[in-house]
Parts: sequence; structure tokens; C-alpha cells
Amino acid sequence: MTTTATGLTPLDSAANEPLYRQIYQRFRAAIASGVLKPGDRIPSARALTKELGLARGTIDAAYALLAAEGYVSPRGQAGTIVTPGLKPQPMDIVPPPLAQPKDLKPSYRPDSILPFQMGLPALDAFPRKIWARLSARCSRAMQPADMTHPAVFGLPSLRAEIAAYLHMSRGIACSPHQVFITSGYAQSMQLVCRALLNAGDRVWVEDPGYPPTRDLLQHLNIETVPVPVDHEGMRIDQAIGRSPDARAAVVTPAHQSPLCVTLSLPRRHALLDWAEANAAWIIEDDYDGEYRYVSRPLPALKSLDEKGRVLYAGTFSKVLFPALRLAYLVVPESQVERFEQSAHLFSGSPQLTQTIVSAFISEGHFARHIQRMRRLYGERRSMTIAGLQNVLEKHVSIDSPPGGMHLILRLRHPCDDRRLVARMRECGLYGEALSDWTTGDDGASAVLLNFTNIDSQATAEMLARRILSLLES
Ligand SMILES: Cc1ncc(COP(=O)(O)O)c(C=O)c1O
Repeated sequence: MTTTATGLTPLDSAANEPLYRQIYQRFRAAIASGVLKPGDRIPSARALTKELGLARGTIDAAYALLAAEGYVSPRGQAGTIVTPGLKPQPMDIVPPPLAQPKDLKPSYRPDSILPFQMGLPALDAFPRKIWARLSARCSRAMQPADMTHPAVFGLPSLRAEIAAYLHMSRGIACSPHQVFITSGYAQSMQLVCRALLNAGDRVWVEDPGYPPTRDLLQHLNIETVPVPVDHEGMRIDQAIGRSPDARAAVVTPAHQSPLCVTLSLPRRHALLDWAEANAAWIIEDDYDGEYRYVSRPLPALKSLDEKGRVLYAGTFSKVLFPALRLAYLVVPESQVERFEQSAHLFSGSPQLTQTIVSAFISEGHFARHIQRMRRLYGERRSMTIAGLQNVLEKHVSIDSPPGGMHLILRLRHPCDDRRLVARMRECGLYGEALSDWTTGDDGASAVLLNFTNIDSQATAEMLARRILSLLES
């Protein structure tokens, strides 16, 4: 049977819901009520465009969403059909739309690079010459085929390099088709939400925890359940107590963000057991797992994932530089198809950049760079701690975690950390208040400082004196 849109409720261009979503909802309603049955052909996008008098892009967006969510399947010449075997879902349990505009607090991005700026690797130590040589070579080698739209799931050679790297360095056994290239952690998370979660789902997040994770989930109408963190990482027992039926957990097991503690082995097992028993998902945000200074980097949580419950999110922002906007997501084998469908909503990452990174890895520069940075950061971390301690000892105690790229200055005397970082920023220093990473108002008062760009103890002391003058004024 081929349906037409005739007879359905009129589309409302003044409604809050965009037109493509209204069309998408129409098809879902038609499928839910049995008007459209599995195997039925739906009108071609061209025919529906004409019939509804709308822009072709509107219809294409609606069809892409239906396809990404598995409601319809394109069949080439035969057109697009309602997916065979699809079980109709009554509309009253159809989840509300994922994205709802909500006020998001933008993260602080100064105009120039500030001392202690969070999230930055050592910018002075990046191998620019090698990068420039590879970039020039990749640009020269570019063929017309490399100038078309990039592969949506990522450049095959880069996916293969990442799979091999993860195998060797992070203990993760995965094949290239499980690796999806994205433009950053936020896009990796959106992909996970699109593929596996629904609005209204509950997700455990660490408290304190990386604010963009909370913001992004809440923006997608996903309820975040803050879970306290202690010296062994997320309190899995408390998470289960608070919300046993959560659909997912987001964790930073290598170096908890921001406390830098490591998720202990018993907790890793407890988390995996919970996910397996409840068919829930674990999103492992391994943003800087490479940087550990007291021992070898720990294997990723994903390496223990025998039942395929862990989504592993990695990024090149810390190991190369954030302006690249390249990250990746490793999905369980069983979910590859689902993610392929959802990834079609995104348009792929810049191909030339992927080509350069792929060459950078395959020619050994990546592994060498990480090793050099691990050594350098170990030194800079010690020098920064020594410099800060010499000057600020009366006022702060410094957590020296085993890994990561920042330090935590715990304020000894009652002091508003938000106010202190605001004053630091006014005088050209970067800091983040631990209170801003904590839900509720009873969080510890502390300042987070990145050390990767502090080149000597003397520099740390000089900067510490500026902080001292703020603390004593
Ligand atoms: C906890 C955490 N997760 C993920 C990321 C990576 O984000 P992106 O890939 O968007 O640069 C960061 C970067 O600062 C981070 O601190």
C-alpha cells in the first residue's frame, strides 16, 4: 500500500514543533495506529514535497529521522518502506522529542590563553613541524574523491588506527567498524543519546562531575541523577539506592573529572554487574586516560566489558589539541547497526583533518608524542605543585592525584571558591571553582588549575604570588 498525506491533520507552521518533526510524528502515529504496516511503501520524498508544498529539506529531515530510529528503511529503486518486522508502539508511550531548548551556561572561554587554563595540553610542546609537513603532504595528495562529502562514520584508515591504538594502549578489543569518528565529546554523547536513550530516561552522573555532561543530558530532557564520588570513584551503591532503574551511567574511570581519583576495581565490577543485570548502558568518558604519572596507564573500563554494555568515548583534544574537533566513540558490536542509523543524522567530520591525524598515528608520531607529554606533564606537575606550595601553603592544601592534567587547590580557610576564581579571571588567571562542578551548595571549596602549560617552578611561584595577593586582600 502507498499512502499519501491526504486526510491527516494539517501541518502548523506556527507551532513550536518544527515542520519536519510534525511530519515525522504523523508517520509514527500512522505506524502506531496500524494505518501504515511493516512492508508498506511510503511516498517518495519528492512526491511528498510536492504534495505538501514544503521544502525538500524538510521532508528529507523527517525521513532521515524516521530511518535513523528504524521506523522506515530505504530500499533503493523500490522506494522507502516501513521496516519489516517493526512492532508498532502505541503513541501514548512514544517518548517526547529529545531536544528541547533549555538555557545552557556557556563554558568560560577567555580571549587569550590564560595561565592555568583548563582543558589545554602543553601548546608549546606540540610537534608543529611534523604536523605542518604531514598537513602539506596530505593536502598535496588530495584527489577529487577526497573533496566530496566525508564518510559519515569516519575515515576508514583513522577508524582502523584508533582500533589498533586502543587495543595496544587501553586494552580495548574492538574492530574498526565499532569506532565512530565525531567532532568531540558532546557529539559522541549526542550520538549515544540518539541511539540508545529517550527523553525522560534517568542517567547517573558523577557529583562533582564535568558540567557539560550534565548540561547536555538535561538539554535532551534526560534526567540526571547526581551520584557522590569518594576516593574510589563513583559510589555505585548509592547510585543503585537512588535510581536502580536508570538507563545509563556516565563515568570517568581513569581520572575522575574533576577529582582525578580512579574508579576502583570492585566498583568497576559493581558498575558492570548493575548494567548487565538491568540492560543499562555505561558511557566511559576516557578524556585523558593516557596521562598517569605514578604507574602505567590503567586499562580502560571497556576492557572488562564482556557483555557489551560500555560505550567508550575518547577524544584527541587532550592528546593533540582541542581545536582539531576530533573525537571517537567505540560502540558494542551488537549496537553497530543502530549507531550507523543514528550517525546518518550527522554529516561526518572534516576529511582532511582525519587524514592528517591518521598519518600522524600510522607513522608513529602519536605514540611518541604521548610518551613525551607523559614525561613532560610529570615534570610540570611536580614543578607546579612545588611552586604553589612554597607560596600558598598557609592558605591551601594541594591534591596531587596520580594522573590528569590539573591540580586541586583546597582552600584551608572558609572562602568562596566562585568568588576567588572570578577575581582570578579579572586579573588574567584561569581557575575553575569546584562548587561549579558540584550539584547542591554543600560542595568543598577548591580551585581547579591546569598545570600543563606551566613551564617552571619559578613561573608557578610568580603566578602563586598573584593568587596570594587575592587571598590576602
Ligand atoms: C571530562 C571531559 N570529558 C571530555 C572532554 C573532551 O571534550 P572534547 O572532545 O569536546 O574536547 C573533556 C575536555 O576538556 C573533559 O574534561
